[in-house]
Amino acid sequence: MTMRIAVAVSGRGSNLEALLRALGPGAPGQVVLLLSNRADAGALPRAAAHGVPAEVLDDAADADEWLRRLGEHRVELLVLAGYLKLVPPGVIQRYRGRILNVHPALLPAFGGKGMYGHRVHEAVLASGARESGATVHLVDEVYDRGPILAQARVPVLPGDDPDRLAARVLQAEHRLLPAVVLAAAAAGRPVPLPEAVELQP
Ligand code: GRF
Repeated sequence: MTMRIAVAVSGRGSNLEALLRALGPGAPGQVVLLLSNRADAGALPRAAAHGVPAEVLDDAADADEWLRRLGEHRVELLVLAGYLKLVPPGVIQRYRGRILNVHPALLPAFGGKGMYGHRVHEAVLASGARESGATVHLVDEVYDRGPILAQARVPVLPGDDPDRLAARVLQAEHRLLPAVVLAAAAAGRPVPLPEAVELQP
């Protein structure tokens, strides 16, 4: 039995791509659905290229619509990979402990409402922090607050600007998110990742 996974996105979908590559034949999990709140998300053609059904939400705030779509595909794990809106509370209640999010900083720092995209990296640079990284955590009703499952660290380097730091963090996300999802699929539920695993290139 492979775990049936849905991925929710708002944008280009490079984390989706990393997941699809990691979850090839024989993997313990399979992406069976892509959900987007935007019809112009770059992730949609990426899913199509891998033969994954891609659906655009009519109303991203409607829990019933989410639950209907997730139910139709018998989804067991929901992965937010660059999904920028709040998931309706009704979805979180139904899938509690089975929703993951990837965040481009070392939570609990630099998280919360409005902390997404370049704002995160601008805040990290403005703080003078010497390192940043990626976090994968369980999703609850509050942005970026749920229990942390794994983190990958990257240095902040002299001369960094938000673009350069974002690119370095994104590489870490592309290693970390598939590792956490593979571990969840193998275990049958999300599990914390030992640091040694998360840091392998
Ligand atoms: C990632 O940095 C993710 O952490 C953030 O948005 C970005 C999405 O990138 N929330 P992509 O759509 O996976 O390329």
